[in-house]
Amino acid sequence: MVSLRNVSKSYGDLVAVEDVSLKIERGEYAFLIGPSGAGKTTLLGLIHHDELPSSGVVEVGSFRTDRLRRAHIPKLRRHVGFVYQDFRLIADRSVYENVALPLRVAGAPNRSIARRVNEVLLQVGLFGRLRDRASDLSGGEMQRVAIARALVNQPLLLLADEPTGNLDPETAAGIYRVLERVNVGGTAVLVATHDRAAARASGRRVLHLERGRILPDTDDRRALSDGAGERGERGDE
Ligand SMILES: Nc1ncnc2c1ncn2[C@@H]1O[C@H](COP(=O)(O)OP(=O)(O)OP(=O)(O)O)[C@@H](O)[C@H]1O
Ligand SMILES: [Mg+2]
Repeated sequence: MVSLRNVSKSYGDLVAVEDVSLKIERGEYAFLIGPSGAGKTTLLGLIHHDELPSSGVVEVGSFRTDRLRRAHIPKLRRHVGFVYQDFRLIADRSVYENVALPLRVAGAPNRSIARRVNEVLLQVGLFGRLRDRASDLSGGEMQRVAIARALVNQPLLLLADEPTGNLDPETAAGIYRVLERVNVGGTAVLVATHDRAAARASGRRVLHLERGRILPDTDDRRALSDGAGERGERGDE
């Protein structure tokens, strides 16, 4: 569903991502770990087409960066939800309005917006808070709103950038439970984090990024463990 082939991204002389090749299958759940500056956010941004690669090709479903038309990017983003490191909520709007925003932008009718927003708020455990102002929420609740907003278009893939970065361990565990539920629903999930322990404890695939490169010996534990413990459907795209 997602494939990166020999992807590099440079900013001037600085190589943020270097010769990365990887695939993410439909319904997969994987972690992207690495120290600060390793290139995690850059890599997620490349998949989301926030950035174009300096070389190599990023493919998401039927979209590919070497044959990209600008006009197609909004359509692609409906298939890929992004949860930003800093939430990026509209502080003075309600929970409901923050989550509804991508649907309003897409021109959905009010009735279907209401149905879908209620559904995702239920999914992230915030149904009772829909009228609250975003700025009145705790960090963990803001993160849930950001996840709900990223899910509202029913994406095939959810990218979460350091979703537990500023949360206490218990709240962080709650966010991971939400992401697990999202994945059980069939959405592929890629989580970027410093939290090596959480990634390892999850038993999921762990991609280890170091100075822009995926360390080959840590990539794809399926190669080492014949797929035991993997969940989710596989599909060709
Ligand atoms: N827009 C940009 N312009 C210039 N340099 C950039 C830009 N974005 C990222 N970089 C550089 O690319 C490298 C990788 O940055 P990136 O933000 O992807 O790392 P990260 O792994 O997400 O780090 P963190 O864990 O601190 O969020 C860093 O050296 C960063 O300074
Ligand atoms: Mg980052």
